[in-house]
Amino acid sequence: MLSNVEAIVLAAGKSTRFKTGKTKLIEKICGQEMILYPATLLNSFKIPTTFVVGYQKESIIELLTKNFGDNFNVVDQGTPQGTGHAILCTQSQWSQEHVLILNGDTPLIKPNQLRALYDKHIKTNAVMSFITAYNIDPSLNNYGKVVEDEDGIRIVEPSDFAQFSDKLDNQDVSCVNAGIYILKRSFLTDYINKLPHNKNTGEYYFTEIVNLASKDGLTVSTINIPFDTVRGINTLRELWNAEQIKKSEIIGDWMEKGVRFGSAQNVLIDLNVNIGPGTYVGTGVQLFQGTSIGANCHLEAFSSISGSTLEDFVHIYSHSNIKNSVIKHHSYIGPFAHVRGNTKVDEHVNIGNFVEINRSQVGAYSRIRHMCYIGDAKIGKHVSIGAGSITCNFDGIEKHTTEIKDSAFIGSNTAFVAPVIIGEQAYTAAGSVITHNVPDKALAIARSRQTNKEDYEMVKQQKKNLSQQIQAAYIAATKTVPDSFETT
Ligand code: UD1
Ligand code: CA
Repeated sequence: MLSNVEAIVLAAGKSTRFKTGKTKLIEKICGQEMILYPATLLNSFKIPTTFVVGYQKESIIELLTKNFGDNFNVVDQGTPQGTGHAILCTQSQWSQEHVLILNGDTPLIKPNQLRALYDKHIKTNAVMSFITAYNIDPSLNNYGKVVEDEDGIRIVEPSDFAQFSDKLDNQDVSCVNAGIYILKRSFLTDYINKLPHNKNTGEYYFTEIVNLASKDGLTVSTINIPFDTVRGINTLRELWNAEQIKKSEIIGDWMEKGVRFGSAQNVLIDLNVNIGPGTYVGTGVQLFQGTSIGANCHLEAFSSISGSTLEDFVHIYSHSNIKNSVIKHHSYIGPFAHVRGNTKVDEHVNIGNFVEINRSQVGAYSRIRHMCYIGDAKIGKHVSIGAGSITCNFDGIEKHTTEIKDSAFIGSNTAFVAPVIIGEQAYTAAGSVITHNVPDKALAIARSRQTNKEDYEMVKQQKKNLSQQIQAAYIAATKTVPDSFETT
């Protein structure tokens, strides 16, 4: 527990380095918006939290409200003038003994690391404590560097590197500031108004507060944690880097729980997905937010599943797409199947290649195996639907339902003009267009009878002779042979 702590999350920046024109804070990482990472973490600590918003604030507030109701505070920074200004704007909210501050663009931080920061802060009775990390890649120049000398600890921002180059040269400059701080409220109150205006950028840097504390000989503590957990996201490239880390963390966790991956580097698994042990996940499989896969399932290559629940022992053949649907145990889907629209597929069902099922229910042990469209339908148990059958569920204005009762046998290429009901154990003949209900146990045949034209070869020869006679007459009359005449 973090006691007597409140939190501030900075989310007002313009995301200029992102170059998408949109705030980076609602960009998704493994299916979850960036700002929801710190927000969810702080929510789990149950500490009062204030978000500083400004640029495109509507979309951020809407997202937070959707996830946390009114369980958070918002302060509008107006025109962003730097991280120091952002924190200054929240002053009227401060009420607890300690204020925890997080940059909104640092999604990989973990709860135990915040707890360690808090513990160090309390133990050392520091006026402020912050997180540092070692980063030895000189190309990553977006971080403030943490330097320590006889004057104490300070943070030098990239815009000021040139000015401090002699100092930086003599230092171990691989230590960077993570942008996560905890401060005594009394210290914050005394110093927030003293932050200088940066000459190079015109902004108020919050990091200057460390320099002010050191100058006054106050205790500033740090904890050092792995760089990969403090990566800030300023560019799309950094977003990609962070997402790779998060992704391998998620997949690694599933491996630990008994999930087997065909080629883990090619799969996509969002946060808030569940996978049972003994399940196999093939190459290129995508499992999006809100999906739950049972135990001992088999998900073949390039299948995509979102917002759906699969019970145990479900087999999804390759290239299938399942959206907002439920598949009960021991069912087989695909390859190239498309199941969507709150469809419910009961146990031991077999849905085959190029079958689309939309807003429908399919009863246990039924089989729809080849090239069908089933929309707005209620299919009973032990129903067999032949290749190429379709429900004609849309009359151009409204959708209509088709009901096919238990143990019906549907001949290939049947078209059901909905609304229509097919009785139990009823049959339809192949190629039928069913426009009326079929009683239980009846056979419906709804197609024109076959007509055979006898001696068709002779008819063809007569046509050929006639054509030659016309050609001859034309040549005699015009004394020319046009190109277009057939020569056979
Ligand atoms: C900041 C730190 C840097 C640290 C790095 C870690 C400062 C001056 N520098 O730099 O030392 O190494 O984080 O990732 O703090 N924001 C506002 N209002 C503003 C400006 C920014 O709310 O006026 C928000 C942004 O939306 C973002 C966060 O504050 O979520 C950090 O801002 P950003 O511009 O990304 O700071 P960095 O340059 O990364
Ligand atoms: Ca940043």
